[in-house]
Amino acid sequence: MVAVPPVGIRRRAAMAPAAGSPHRDEILLGDAAATLAILPAASVHLAMTSPPYNVGIPYRGYADDLHPDAYLEWLARVWKALYRVLVPGGRFALNVAPTSIKEFHPIHHDLARGLRKMGYIMRTEIIWYKQTMGRRTAWGSWRSPSNPHIIPSWEYVLVFSKGQWNLPGPKEAIDITSEEFQRFSDGFWELKPERKRRGHPAPFPEQLVERIVKYYSYRGNVVLDMFGGSGTVAAVARATGRHYLYIDRSPEYCEAALSRVAAAEPPPGWEVPPPRAVVPGAGAPAPRPERTAAAAGPGPLPW
Ligand SMILES: C[S@@+](CC[C@H](N)C(=O)[O-])C[C@H]1O[C@@H](n2cnc3c(N)ncnc32)[C@H](O)[C@@H]1O
Repeated sequence: MVAVPPVGIRRRAAMAPAAGSPHRDEILLGDAAATLAILPAASVHLAMTSPPYNVGIPYRGYADDLHPDAYLEWLARVWKALYRVLVPGGRFALNVAPTSIKEFHPIHHDLARGLRKMGYIMRTEIIWYKQTMGRRTAWGSWRSPSNPHIIPSWEYVLVFSKGQWNLPGPKEAIDITSEEFQRFSDGFWELKPERKRRGHPAPFPEQLVERIVKYYSYRGNVVLDMFGGSGTVAAVARATGRHYLYIDRSPEYCEAALSRVAAAEPPPGWEVPPPRAVVPGAGAPAPRPERTAAAAGPGPLPW
């Protein structure tokens, strides 16, 4: 998956920009917004995440079916907390799926608009084409214009930057090949969904994460996922020579991620320690709107 770095790079990786931060290479059990609040400002170069999609997935510990406005309001608090911890030029890659056909809601538009209003620069929108058409039959009215449906066989990766487009870094810490750079720069990515569930209902494929990590960060950078799930981002980050931070509120998912990331060996010459499990002492998780309260609809949106 990765090339051996030139001699002399090891020290640079160990000194990567978040040096001094007490938090890196950790699996943090906790609420996303509350845990982000304890991380040092400007300590993360790339965040990649896939939040709960709010489509009724049976996660451990909460209902994945909030009112759309309450859902956006909740996520907005997380994005605000993330902004503080990103370095200038730090990237945020947000994976979201189209909502269900019946209750279609253009949530990716709402998220993009909200993030831009918050001050994020929107860089692009990648289409992850999942090639799942063969398995779907929800066509609405068959062979008739009366009520045909489009099947969402894709997801989005919306990519943002904090404050500036450029993220400086040492040339020796670039690990993307010319061929990969050319291929990934075409924003239509055909990748099959993850087959290995690893005890999680919605993991994303390692290939998707590896593309984002190599395209948008340097070796030695700090890569974060605040809805870490099965630990895909942290595992790929470590396997490609990046430091990582993982947050999830489920002890079961944290535990599974811990062993997965520990098994993801960094490339030779790059020191990225195995994960430490941390339960931040920062107290109770930030409140997430309850399903019943949300059903009535929240007050005005924060943007
Ligand atoms: C879509 S899944 C992420 C899957 C992940 N991308 C992977 O590859 O496994 C969303 C995750 O968010 C976690 N989660 C839900 N609410 C949370 C919160 N308030 N704070 C932190 N994590 C939360 C869930 O436990 C779930 O594992």
